[in-house]
Amino acid sequence: MQQFGDYQGEIHLETPGGAGPRFPLVFADLEEQAQAVLPPAVWSYVDCGAGDGHTQRMNVQAFGCWGLVPRMLAGATKRDLSVDLFDMTWPTPLFMAPVGVIGLCAQDGHGDLATARAAARTGVPMVASTLAVDPLEAVAREFGATPGLFQLYTPTDRELAASLVHRAEAAGYKGIVVTLDRWVAGWRPRDPGTGALPEVRRHCLANYVSDPVFRARLPHAPEEDLHATAAQWARIFGNSLTWDDLPWLRSLSSLPLLLKGICHPDDVRRAKDAGADGIYCSNHGGRQADGGLAALDCLPAVVEAADGLPVLFDSGIRSGADAVKALALGATAVGIGRPCAYGLAIGGTDGLVHVLRSLLAEMDLIMAVDGYAALADLTPEALRRVCSGHGPSASGHRGG
Ligand code: FNR
Repeated sequence: MQQFGDYQGEIHLETPGGAGPRFPLVFADLEEQAQAVLPPAVWSYVDCGAGDGHTQRMNVQAFGCWGLVPRMLAGATKRDLSVDLFDMTWPTPLFMAPVGVIGLCAQDGHGDLATARAAARTGVPMVASTLAVDPLEAVAREFGATPGLFQLYTPTDRELAASLVHRAEAAGYKGIVVTLDRWVAGWRPRDPGTGALPEVRRHCLANYVSDPVFRARLPHAPEEDLHATAAQWARIFGNSLTWDDLPWLRSLSSLPLLLKGICHPDDVRRAKDAGADGIYCSNHGGRQADGGLAALDCLPAVVEAADGLPVLFDSGIRSGADAVKALALGATAVGIGRPCAYGLAIGGTDGLVHVLRSLLAEMDLIMAVDGYAALADLTPEALRRVCSGHGPSASGHRGG
């Protein structure tokens, strides 16, 4: 069985004689180095949150309200981090959350492909965003033996939605993640001044311009009139779905269907009733609505309502310790968002592989030291809540 903690030894061997490690080992350094190398518009787009960033900060700080209780003499000599999900066994409970501009974060401008290659090298699945620099088929070709999921931003054009889902199925994706909380852009005061949104429009439309349905709606080939292409995309992008749309979404594919952005137990129950195969608890990393709850604080009630249905989780994971806590609170698998973008920025596929292996190494070694040999041992009883009332102070801590 692979022991992810061994990565620490590899890093020591690769950096003899006091040389520093090739890539940073803590999130603050990773963030700082990414900011230094990313174009300002891309950096700002990735880093920013909605409003004044309160929800984004709370997402991160919420993890500080929980502590794992060490258990001794537990025999956690070997740890098993594998997880069974949708008739697959994933070697780890991590996955890469969909990030629309990940394509622009790699130095060569093909970050979607670089991310897929990192998935192949680590066994950590990628959830490929609808907003991509390279088409979903090209991304899937880089997955190797690692499964991938496709994230759908459901357009108002139902035929286009169906086409995207069918393409994903044909390309070998193993599940469809429908994002519910981004049919309209949240209030992001930092975006307008940086030109970040036009960047996304111009560069991340590969799945649209390669789509036969999208192309058929345009008077010219998309390449001939980029302005008209972007305008058409803007017209069909945001679809304010309701529960009445779920039977149609469900009917598009027999692949597992996951609903992303669910934070309320009643919504979990309705999703279950509508035939969802998985719940994805997330508040979009605090990018959509400010003044909200930390996603982690929503997780226990979501897990309880899911009543055995898999619950994927993201928003605020910055370390292996954070991932362990989310798993102990009942997440089946845990999504990494911004840290992946920063890893790509500083080192392409190598940088991203390093970020993922570091997270896994820390998780594995925490489980070793604290005596939890398997994910099944990580239960809410393994945690103690260490904050009462309103949680940690929101001052002076950068959310990221
Ligand atoms: C996102 N996220 C996102 N989600 C989604 O469903 N489709 C998408 O295309 C994107 N795009 C995107 C771009 C950028 C720059 C970021 C940072 C995030 C949200 C993402 O999947 C995830 O929910 C958050 O990243 C989790 O928050 P943290 O942990 O990154 O803070």
